[in-house]
Amino acid sequence: MTEASRHPLTLDGRDPANLRGDPITGDRYWSREFAQKEWDHLWTRIWHVAGRTAELREPGDFVVHNFMKESVICVAQVDGSIKAFYNSCQHRGMRLVEQSSSVAAFNCPYHGWRWGTDGVLQFAQDPHDFPGGDPCGKLKLKKLRCDTWGGFVWYTMDDQAPSLAKFLHPMIDVFKGYPMDTAVRVAWYRIALNTNWKFVTDNFSESYHTRTAHPQVPPWIDQDVDTSRHDMWPGGHGRTVQPMRPSLSDRLPEGVPHFFDEILRQWDIDPDHYASFEEKTMQGWLDLKAAKRRLWKERGYLHYEQMDDEQLTDSLHTVMFPNVTISFLPDNLVFFRSEPHPDDPEKCYFDLWCMAFPVAGQTTVDSIMAGPKPLAEVESCEHRDFDGGRGIPELVGQIVYQDMTLAEGQQAGMHSRGYSDAHLSAQETRVRFVHEVLNDYLEGGK
Ligand code: FES
Repeated sequence: MTEASRHPLTLDGRDPANLRGDPITGDRYWSREFAQKEWDHLWTRIWHVAGRTAELREPGDFVVHNFMKESVICVAQVDGSIKAFYNSCQHRGMRLVEQSSSVAAFNCPYHGWRWGTDGVLQFAQDPHDFPGGDPCGKLKLKKLRCDTWGGFVWYTMDDQAPSLAKFLHPMIDVFKGYPMDTAVRVAWYRIALNTNWKFVTDNFSESYHTRTAHPQVPPWIDQDVDTSRHDMWPGGHGRTVQPMRPSLSDRLPEGVPHFFDEILRQWDIDPDHYASFEEKTMQGWLDLKAAKRRLWKERGYLHYEQMDDEQLTDSLHTVMFPNVTISFLPDNLVFFRSEPHPDDPEKCYFDLWCMAFPVAGQTTVDSIMAGPKPLAEVESCEHRDFDGGRGIPELVGQIVYQDMTLAEGQQAGMHSRGYSDAHLSAQETRVRFVHEVLNDYLEGGK
């Protein structure tokens, strides 16, 4: 048991007794009325990620986050703080900026008003012509609450929402061992998918699909149901913790080189000195923890300093309610997010940010979901349409690509008169749990 798993709020995410049993009906994935309820009671009340703090290093650096029909600017201030504003000119509503950049001030393209990065109006044409007097120095852009955690910039549209720390609780305690703000974004995609946004959250709330959809994973990350741990927390957050060692029930054919052997060698452990595959897997995994503890500093793995034993060698695949997933791996963070399409509940945008912890002397990293990448911040996001897989050929064979190929089929099935509710295994308990917390929001219980 780790520090994290002992958190008093942790619930067993494999125990259906922690559920009410709310049905996961098909209309949740296609009904416009349901999507409107989500906007009214969920999206306008939660905290959203606008970008990375690494994008806001200098005063005037800003990120734009478009969410459905809303648009928000988060901009770095002279004192190093970050302010968030609606991306809407207070003169006549014009959208001020279209994409993230850096400015000395925001110049409205319609009538030329100029807004300071602190949100205060600096210039208006013909200021004497306003019946109420010169608006400069008085009028301000409409502000939102903004905060940071994990190197991410967050905002909420709800003035009454609980703080970011409360919204995420207890994730901030649970993941304090990872120096998340040091992680470098090495791959950055936004992919249009023909499915409801909840496909992504559902999919990341269980690993039951892995053997079928991702057969390459079990020899790398142990997928055995009884060696995984499923945690969930009252705010709707949850995670699957799996050792990054081969599943004993998914052995590669004799003679096929094993990825785990390579990892052991990397940490000066001879994979051939174990008497059996089972011993190598189980004892090697313990030896790996010990070797990392011993060698991290001299090898430049400075991000290991505060990690616990579990974090040093395991995969902590974590859904932050309702739509952010972070895969915590010893050397990588993979950020996934789905956001609804502004007009069509049967479409969504899927964000994939691959981040790596820098290691001294490394120039390239395995981005886990997008292949090897240079260890450097990518400048801009790649916008793609999945288009049956044709829109993103460079990800063919990757785990996320395999997930995306399933999205349309499940969306189609949600329309069937033959589907009325999911029939879940215990290890999929978190799928229903997320829907129950969503219902709490929609019905005003949260
Ligand atoms: Fe912005 Fe008129 S709408 S200056």
